[in-house]
Amino acid sequence: MANQTILVTGGAGFIGSNFILYWMNNHPEDKIINLDALTYAGNTKNLASVSDLPNYIFVEGNITDRELVDRLMASCDIVVHFAAESHVDRSILNPDTFIQTNIIGTHVLLESALHNDIKHFHHISTDEVFGSLKLGSDTQFSEHTPYDPRSPYSASKASSDHLVRAYGETYGLNYTITNCSNNYGEYQFPEKLIPLAISHILADKPVPVYGDGLQVRDWLYVQDHCTAIEKVLQSGKSQETYVVGGLTEDIPNIEVVKTILRIMKKPEDMLIHVTDRAGHDVRYSVNWSKIESDLGWKPSVSFEEGMQKTVAWYLANEAWWKPLVSANAAYFKKNYQGRE
Ligand code: NAD
Ligand code: DAU
Repeated sequence: MANQTILVTGGAGFIGSNFILYWMNNHPEDKIINLDALTYAGNTKNLASVSDLPNYIFVEGNITDRELVDRLMASCDIVVHFAAESHVDRSILNPDTFIQTNIIGTHVLLESALHNDIKHFHHISTDEVFGSLKLGSDTQFSEHTPYDPRSPYSASKASSDHLVRAYGETYGLNYTITNCSNNYGEYQFPEKLIPLAISHILADKPVPVYGDGLQVRDWLYVQDHCTAIEKVLQSGKSQETYVVGGLTEDIPNIEVVKTILRIMKKPEDMLIHVTDRAGHDVRYSVNWSKIESDLGWKPSVSFEEGMQKTVAWYLANEAWWKPLVSANAAYFKKNYQGRE
């Protein structure tokens, strides 16, 4: 797979920018075109270290813009599609943009991919499309789990997965899909639990935990997600799905927050319980044995190591996240006010 041109959508976001940095470091022979609308979640600062390289091109634009997408795809071999509205709480407050970007945007990309004979369309999706597992059970999501999305966000991602598969079945598109669990690490927008907790602690504010905080997520360090995508791009089977996850044990949200408080040497009473999220999925857990046995991938960073690295990064990069908190004050107020 040498000297390929890859269209990355949403490459200025959290996972997309980590992926571009990883890919350019490990595959310097390839060219990356990053198409990103720079919504509240997009940040070109993440890519400062590659922005002047001749094999990196940034294009500010929307994936729903068919003319632009066609023009870019004309020179591309591969598409890696990250662009999405990604935050569940925002989808509860305002679902419209989730439908536009996650469903309509994906459809535009698929049409353009067919029209431009794209060799490989890789769709980044989420384990949230599978719904909610029973707390305390040992069941896990796998490639065979039926879809059961329960939030506007996960329903829009589920729709996009169905569209990708339909373009494979109906028109022969060479696609792969990864359904990944909760990522954490550098450059994550401080609206998601882990960076939100770190930023609150640094501002000496209590950390809001929804409901009883016994909900469970399957946490994956973002660099491990990047290596999973790399494996699928290099040797994934056409029209196959791979679920990707990190943990082999259940860690409730309150334990995640307590881990952060311990690492930051702060008291546990900084954790406060607030009104629960509507339709809150209680448990995610991923059985990633297929990608392990078929492609030889497994996570390499333990939860403790990943959390240490993540806390250290946010401590050293206040200049990155503080302006985002101020610029998004209206959202934080709308989501959290009156919850206590
Ligand atoms: P993010 O919100 O940090 O970044 C999304 C990026 O997409 C931003 O740069 C934004 O500007 C861009 N974007 C949004 N709408 C766009 C549009 N219409 N046109 C062009 N660009 C647009 O998201 P993330 O956490 O990096 O997630 C990336 C992908 O991975 C998403 O598809 C998400 O569903 C999926 N995913 C995320 C996680 C997670 O834990 N964060 C886990 C599994 C899957
Ligand atoms: O599972 C993959 C998904 O993980 C991705 O598809 C999404 O893009 C990503 O946002 C993430 O969704 P979650 O809703 O699981 O992530 P979030 O960080 O918002 O919440 C994690 C858990 O923490 C969840 O149980 C809700 C809880 N929570 C979250 C926030 C923001 C709190 O208790 N308090 C909070 O303030």
